[in-house]
Amino acid sequence: MKFEINKNITEAHTLPGSFYTDAAIFEKSKTDIFLKTWQFASLTQAAQLHGSNKPFTLLPGFLDEPLLITNQNNQHQCLSNVCTHRGKILVENACMQNHIRCRYHGRKFDLNGNMLSMPEFEDVKNFPAPTDHLTQLQLKQWLQMFFVAATPAMDFEVCIDPIRPFIKQLSTDYIYQPTLSRDYLVQAHWALYCENYLEGFHIPFVHHDLNKTLDYSSYHTQCFKYSSLQIGYAQSGYPTLPIQHNEKSIAALYYWMFPNTMLNFYPWGLSVNVVKPITPHLTRVSFICFAYPNADVSGQINALDKVEREDEAIVESVQKGIGSRFYKHGRYATKRETGTHHFHGLIAEFL
Ligand code: FES
Ligand SMILES: [Fe+2]
Repeated sequence: MKFEINKNITEAHTLPGSFYTDAAIFEKSKTDIFLKTWQFASLTQAAQLHGSNKPFTLLPGFLDEPLLITNQNNQHQCLSNVCTHRGKILVENACMQNHIRCRYHGRKFDLNGNMLSMPEFEDVKNFPAPTDHLTQLQLKQWLQMFFVAATPAMDFEVCIDPIRPFIKQLSTDYIYQPTLSRDYLVQAHWALYCENYLEGFHIPFVHHDLNKTLDYSSYHTQCFKYSSLQIGYAQSGYPTLPIQHNEKSIAALYYWMFPNTMLNFYPWGLSVNVVKPITPHLTRVSFICFAYPNADVSGQINALDKVEREDEAIVESVQKGIGSRFYKHGRYATKRETGTHHFHGLIAEFL
C-alpha cells in the first residue's frame, strides 16, 4: 500500500486509518523508516572511558537489534553485538575491555569490530572474509547523547542544524546534567503519539494549565527537511528561556527529528522524549531529562507528567477511533497543523 499526502495543506487529507492498523505496514516501517533514520542509542556517559563497552538493544521489542558502543582512546564506534561465528551476543553487560572475546568459542575482535583471531580455524578456507568482522553502524555524539543509524537516508547534521543556533545561545550559559529518566507505556500507535506532539492546536482544549503559560495566538511552527520546531512564546509572568525569538520571550522550544525523537527546551533544562514502537497499538515513550545546574526541577517534572498524562488519554482515545470502519481520513487546519502535515508527508515519502 502506498500513501500520498498532498503537499498543499489546503487540499491535503491526513493518513488513512489503515496506516495505523495494518500489521504489514507497521512491519515495513522498521526497514523503510526506522533503520533509515537517526535513533537515540544511549547517554554518552555510558562509554566515557577508553575501553568502556556499552551494549544496548536498539528499539527493544521492535527493531530488537543488539548493538555495542565501544570507546578506543575516545574514538567511539557502534558495532553489531552479535558474534559472526554462530551468533552469540558478544557483550552482555557494560564492561571495561580492550578487546571483545566471544564467550562461546573464543572469537576475538578489536574495538573497531575487526576479527583478530579464532581458535581451531587454521584449515578454514577464505577466512577471515569481510563478513567475519562486526558490522559498523554510523554513530554521532550530540548533547551528551549517542545517536545511531543503520542505513541513514540523511546526514545527522541535516536533522540537527535547524536547532543549532538556539542551542548555541543556550549552552554557553549552562551545562546539562542528566537528572532523570522515566518511561510511559501508551496504548496507541507510535505515529499517533508523534502527530499529537507536532501540533499546538490541541493545547487550549487538552492542556489547561500549560495553556495559561503559553501565548497560543503567537504559537509558531517551522518545518525543515527532516525536523520541525514549535516555539511556544511565554505569557507574561511565566518562566522563560534565556533567549528570545522575534523579540518575544520563549516558554518552550519543541524540536522534533523524524521520525521519533523530541527535544524540549524548557527554562529549567532539556527533556528528550524517545518514542519507541512496540506493536501497532502499544508504544513506549522514554523521557530523559537534563536539568541546568541548580535548577529546581521537581515541580517542573510534575507539570511535565501532567501534560504527558493528558496527551496519553487523548492519543489512546484516538487509537480506539482510528480503527473504526467509519473513519477514512481527516483534513488539516492549515495554520495549526503544519507540523503534523509535514510528518505525514515524510511517512508517505519513506513508505
Ligand atoms: S559464537 Fe562466538 S565464537 Fe562461536
Ligand atoms: Fe499535548
